[in-house]
Amino acid sequence: MHIVADHPLVTHRITLMRDRTTPPKLFRELVDEITTFLAFTALKDLRLRSVEVTTPVAKTTGQRVDERIVLVPILRAGMGMLNAMLDVLPYAKVGVLGMQRNEETAEPIPYYAKVPPAKGDELAIVIDPMLATGGSACDAVAQLKKLGYTRIKFLNLISAPEGIAKFEREHPDVPVYSGVVDERLNSHFYIVPGLGDAGDRIFGTL
Ligand code: PRP
Ligand code: URA
Repeated sequence: MHIVADHPLVTHRITLMRDRTTPPKLFRELVDEITTFLAFTALKDLRLRSVEVTTPVAKTTGQRVDERIVLVPILRAGMGMLNAMLDVLPYAKVGVLGMQRNEETAEPIPYYAKVPPAKGDELAIVIDPMLATGGSACDAVAQLKKLGYTRIKFLNLISAPEGIAKFEREHPDVPVYSGVVDERLNSHFYIVPGLGDAGDRIFGTL
């Protein structure tokens, strides 16, 4: 399942992020805002449990979120989406996967993994702004499945059709939520029109 926000407020922000003159501070703020929007879209089906609550006026039955959640940013650019996710899910745990693309082949090279193994039916949410060839996201989800996760979602800001196709082939059970879908990849496996290297734009390392 692939859900694209396709919302004017998201499209507006992604246009600002694409602009090569947008500085890292504004870029990070835009990542935060879009991530919050995507989180609300992607988490509509969170489990709730009934609780009694006493308002200043009466007793009533309310509902509270009843999930154990592990957020999994893919280093480095995924870190840019983490604070916004923690703002809406303050009790989530955080696991980290380090992945670097080979510059020539775009093959993902895993270099770090610190994710708690699944103990039950925790929801793992993978976050990474870019889905290009799909190599990094597919590898990240495969690692989570090996750790015992059976409920996984993947949130990204910009995806390429090539990456979506690969991801849906390899992980048809994992829903993907994107801000927008771009045209294609170029010969260097960058998303066109895209926004360049998301990690460099977030961390000012251009
Ligand atoms: C970027 C991005 C994704 C990956 C997407 O990371 O954050 O992890 O590329 O490309 P793919 O779909 O072809 O795998 P990069 O490897 O550039 O590392 P960085 O986050 O450290 O800059
Ligand atoms: N990773 C990025 O950061 N940008 C792209 O366009 C492709 C992969």
